[in-house]
Amino acid sequence: MNILLAGAAGQLGNELYPLLSAAGQVTAADVNPASSNASRCLKVDLGNAGQLENLLNRYTPDLIVNAAAYTAVDRAEADRELAFLVNEKMPGRMARWAARNDCSLIHYSTDYIFDGRSDRPYRESDTPAPLNVYGESKLAGERAIEDSGCRSVILRTSWVYSAHGNNFVLSMLKLARTHPQLRIVDDQMGCPTWARNLALATQHVIQHGLLPAEPGCNVYHYSDRDAVSWFEFASLVFDTGVQLGLLDRAPRHVPIDTDGYPQAAIRPKYSVLDTSAIQAKGFHPLPLKASIEACMKGITIDE
Ligand SMILES: NC(=O)c1ccc[n+]([C@@H]2O[C@H](COP(=O)([O-])OP(=O)(O)OC[C@H]3O[C@@H](n4cnc5c(N)ncnc54)[C@H](OP(=O)(O)O)[C@@H]3O)[C@@H](O)[C@H]2O)c1
Repeated sequence: MNILLAGAAGQLGNELYPLLSAAGQVTAADVNPASSNASRCLKVDLGNAGQLENLLNRYTPDLIVNAAAYTAVDRAEADRELAFLVNEKMPGRMARWAARNDCSLIHYSTDYIFDGRSDRPYRESDTPAPLNVYGESKLAGERAIEDSGCRSVILRTSWVYSAHGNNFVLSMLKLARTHPQLRIVDDQMGCPTWARNLALATQHVIQHGLLPAEPGCNVYHYSDRDAVSWFEFASLVFDTGVQLGLLDRAPRHVPIDTDGYPQAAIRPKYSVLDTSAIQAKGFHPLPLKASIEACMKGITIDE
C-alpha cells in the first residue's frame, strides 16, 4: 500500500510515521519538515493547490492520512483565511483527488466543532455548533470531505499532547520552571489525548476495515479515557514531572474560571466525546494517567 502522510512533522504525524511504515510505503510531507522523525520528509505547502496536486499525481497514494492542520486556536480568530485554507480547502482537495483516483482518506477533526452545552458526552450524530474560527474551519473541512464522495474516515479527537511540539503538557512544564504560582482554568472539561494513542486508533481503523468499501464517510470519536479540567490536567503533569525528575517541585497552582483567563477564541465548557462507536469496533480508549506518564518519559529536561 502506498500511503501519503500529510503533516508528518506535527504531534500526530510523528507518532503515525512508524506505525504507517509498518503498513506500507510511506511518503511523508510537511510545510516545515525539520521536526519530522521520518527518514525523509518532503517540504510541501499542501495548502497550495498546485503543490498538492503534483505530490498526489507523483506518488499516487492508495491511502492519504491527513495529520496536517492549522491548530493555533487563538491565532485563527485573526487569521481566518489561512485557517480555512488549511482546514477546509486542503482536505477538500485531497478528498476530491482521492474520489477520482480510487484512494481512501483518513482525516482528523476536533471536539471544538461542538458548543460545549451538552450534559452528556458528544456522540458522532450530535449537531455541531462551533464557538470559534478554528472549530468552524474544521467543521467546514469535514463537510468538504463528506461532499467529495471519497471513501473516508474522520476521527474527531480532543486536547492532543505529545512529548514534542506545541501542547499543554510542555507549556505547563516550562511555566512551572519559571513561575512559583500558576492560575489554571478549572471550568472547562475535556479528555486529554496522547498523540500516540490517536495514532494507534488510526492503525486500528486501517487494520480492522473501518474505512468504507464504497464511497462514503465514517465519523468516529476517539479521545483517551477520563475527563478532567485544565487545572486537573496540569496537576497530573506537575506530579508526574516531579516523579520523573523533570521538575524540582510542583508550583503552587490555583483553579480559576474561564473569565479570569481571557483568550481570543471562546472555548466550549464541556467537550467530552462519546467513544462508544469506535469501542464497538474493537478499539478502547487508553487511560489518562498511564498515558501522561508514558508520554512524559519521552520528554528531556531542556524540552
Ligand atoms: N492539538 C490539539 O489539541 C487537537 C485537538 C483536537 C483535534 N486536533 C486535530 O488533530 C490533528 C493533528 O493535530 P496535531 O496536534 O498533530 O497538530 P500539529 O502538531 O499542529 O501538526 C500539524 C502539522 O501540519 C503542518 N501544516 C500546517 N499547514 C500546512 C501546510 N499548508 N502544508 C503542509 N503542512 C502543514 C504543521 O506545520 P506548522 O506547525 O509549521 O504549521 C504541523 O507540522 C489535526 O487535524 C487537528 O486539528 C488537534
